[in-house]
Amino acid sequence: MELRFLFVGILCSFSIQSRAISIPPVPRFPSASALSHAQAPLRESLDDWIAREESIALNRLLANIKPGGVNVQSDQNVADGTVIASPSKEDPDYWYQWVRDAAITTNTLVDLYTEHPTSEFSASLETILTAYTNLQTRLQRTANPSGTLDDLSGLGEPKFHVDGSAFRGDWGRPQSDGPALRAITLMRYLRAFNASHPTLWSSGELTANSFYETLYKAELPARSIIKADLEYVSHFWNHSSFDLWEEVDGMHFYTAMVQLRALREGSRIARAFRDDGAAAWYGEQSVYLERFVRRFWNKGKGHLAETLWSRRSGLDCAVLLGSLHALPEGEDEAVFPPWSDEVLVSLLALVRDMRRRFAINDRHAEGEKEGGLGHEDRLEGVGVGRYPEDVYDGYGTSTGHPWFLCTSSAAEVLYRTASHLSLSGSLHTNPINLEFYNALLSTSASVLVNTTYIAENEAFKAVVERLQHVGDEFLKVVKTHVDAEGSMSEQFDRETGYLRGARDLTWSYSAFLQAARARKEAKERS
Ligand code: NOJ
Ligand code: NOJ
Repeated sequence: MELRFLFVGILCSFSIQSRAISIPPVPRFPSASALSHAQAPLRESLDDWIAREESIALNRLLANIKPGGVNVQSDQNVADGTVIASPSKEDPDYWYQWVRDAAITTNTLVDLYTEHPTSEFSASLETILTAYTNLQTRLQRTANPSGTLDDLSGLGEPKFHVDGSAFRGDWGRPQSDGPALRAITLMRYLRAFNASHPTLWSSGELTANSFYETLYKAELPARSIIKADLEYVSHFWNHSSFDLWEEVDGMHFYTAMVQLRALREGSRIARAFRDDGAAAWYGEQSVYLERFVRRFWNKGKGHLAETLWSRRSGLDCAVLLGSLHALPEGEDEAVFPPWSDEVLVSLLALVRDMRRRFAINDRHAEGEKEGGLGHEDRLEGVGVGRYPEDVYDGYGTSTGHPWFLCTSSAAEVLYRTASHLSLSGSLHTNPINLEFYNALLSTSASVLVNTTYIAENEAFKAVVERLQHVGDEFLKVVKTHVDAEGSMSEQFDRETGYLRGARDLTWSYSAFLQAARARKEAKERS
């Protein structure tokens, strides 16, 4: 069975009390968010809009997180540390915590925490991050339809009720990206926390400090949160699971990529905690997994395919997300990073499909048909959906629509590629990437195959400039389709352009913030 659409949705209102921990109220991010779109200057530049939208996005992301979030405040049943997927309780019912969405969006908060760990804002982030850690520890111990912590199977459970209890309805389970994403987020938090509290670690009281012990402890069976997730990933990566879109049971690029990153970073964390046997085991599994991940490159199709042995085309924004979410902190050992030929040609093929597919994209490209490549062939910013065969319309099934988080992820891939080229100072063309770079350059220049261009070459400069420009085009699409308050839902309508699907989707804001951050880095480096 290839497609399984699951619409389940009665929120059980168990009266489980959330644990009584004293968490100070989280101040809202100091920002210009009070300024509504209605007050926006008539011809606001993209730079100005992005700066304004960044604080709107952050506020709306925080609004969906307890403690502090306005969308979760009045409901007594929401456990501290919960990241709701969206405040929408019906049509569609997203009033749950997904392990994936929560880990991805919490990772965005870790970015902010890492930047200024000692700021007042980071103190309130620390409150959220601690609550997230405590709740996820509890979720790991919550028996659920996927299983339990004892044999690790329960860690593959994709979503929980907002009070932290198990969701028992029919669903596509397990989903094995969740534990990997959670481990990635918490390992980053651990490193950032450690960097801002250096004496804690150097005091040598690793095992005695409960903060560290909650996160990682060298013991089996694993009971610390990161170690339990790493045990899960290292033992289950070669089992099939449902994809991040919760529809297909199989082996998926996105899942494998984030698992690979989790195991590589996990091996280093294990070593730091003097858990040498585990470090060797995670390292060994990551080598097999890396070999496996390479199988997603489909030479015949000329792009990475999201799912092995699937009847779908395999073109999927999950390929972009997998590349982005698996990008290691240092650039050295990245597998299929955003700037890799395989990811770039996959982006090109996906974007070309989406341009033809959605009416709003047609209109977008109009009036630019002069000279050079036909506009069909150029790489231009358009609204991007999940994958060509998608029929989920945000409420039920009919046809697919563009998604905010996919459109932002296309921008982010291009910005990260621009940064990478600026840093490395050279670009080598080959038969795989040639089509991408010429579609990117379109009429402004072109590159030859099997040629190296260096920073001084006009063609090189044009590539870096175009990467940023087309990245901006994707964010302009986001700008066009947010509502008057700057809100994003899950999707925007393929014909009218209006918001569709779950409102204020936490992940939409996170993906936009990631793209805006990558844009800043690209600008600093060019
Ligand atoms: C069907 C969608 O295709 C899937 O991605 C989603 O997770 C579920 N419905 C729940 O909304
Ligand atoms: C549907 C998406 O397909 C899935 O990836 C996500 O986790 C849920 N919605 C919740 O946002």
